[in-house]
Amino acid sequence: MSQIIEVKKVSKSYLDGKRKTGALDDVSFSLPAGESMAIIGPSGSGKTTLLHLLGGLDKPSAGNVSVNGQELTGLSDKELSMFRNQTIGFVFQFFYLNEYLNVFHNIALPMWLAGKSGGAVDQRVNQLIERVGLIDRATHFPSQLSGGEMQRVAVARALANEPKLILADEPTGNLDRDNAENILQIFDEISDSGVSIVAITHDKYVADRFDHVVKLNKGRLQPEAKSKTT
Ligand SMILES: Nc1ncnc2c1ncn2[C@@H]1O[C@H](COP(=O)(O)OP(=O)(O)OP(=O)(O)O)[C@@H](O)[C@H]1O
Ligand SMILES: [Mg+2]
Repeated sequence: MSQIIEVKKVSKSYLDGKRKTGALDDVSFSLPAGESMAIIGPSGSGKTTLLHLLGGLDKPSAGNVSVNGQELTGLSDKELSMFRNQTIGFVFQFFYLNEYLNVFHNIALPMWLAGKSGGAVDQRVNQLIERVGLIDRATHFPSQLSGGEMQRVAVARALANEPKLILADEPTGNLDRDNAENILQIFDEISDSGVSIVAITHDKYVADRFDHVVKLNKGRLQPEAKSKTT
């Protein structure tokens, strides 16, 4: 089976001034295409750093990251942003919706950036809005939405260009149990349609919904025993 993610001996340290902070230490793992993985671990253990490396938002200090068969290390910034736009959907903890765009236009934005326009975009946006249950919120602006609704917009936007991989940092972190369940159900559907998902979570209930769980501890990765067996 092909691997959507291959991480080989990745380390990452941040250097600011004279201070060096080790964030990841010799991390290796792979994820088969179509499967889902939760990353857990204490605050400061390197979870967000790892997710950023997987999404090509930052570069490792050592080692290699490949996504969908493409090694990210050698890509220029321009190539990386094109690769992200076409292959990866991001869901961040604080949504990062564009406050000046309504729900419809927020979801359309990644498609416009990919050079798409016209009826195909409208159709896809409407389909996504329906999928996340926001039909009657399409012309609302982010400031007029609840946290759960904003997160659903963020998920719809992440799916806009039919990514192979969804990367999510605490996608349910700011949500109550019902809204979290809503997002998890959408993730289940995405997963069933063959999209791979990697999500950071602090919540064991959330982690157990994923095919694999790995734990970061002081920048090192360890497999986590899982209660769910699938
Ligand atoms: N830009 C940066 N410059 C310097 N150090 C950084 C930078 N970003 C992260 N770090 C450090 O790297 C380590 C890992 O940070 P990271 O954000 O990956 O942790 P995390 O597991 O996501 O934590 P949390 O659960 O609190 O979000 C931390 O010690 C952090 O202080
Ligand atoms: Mg983090």
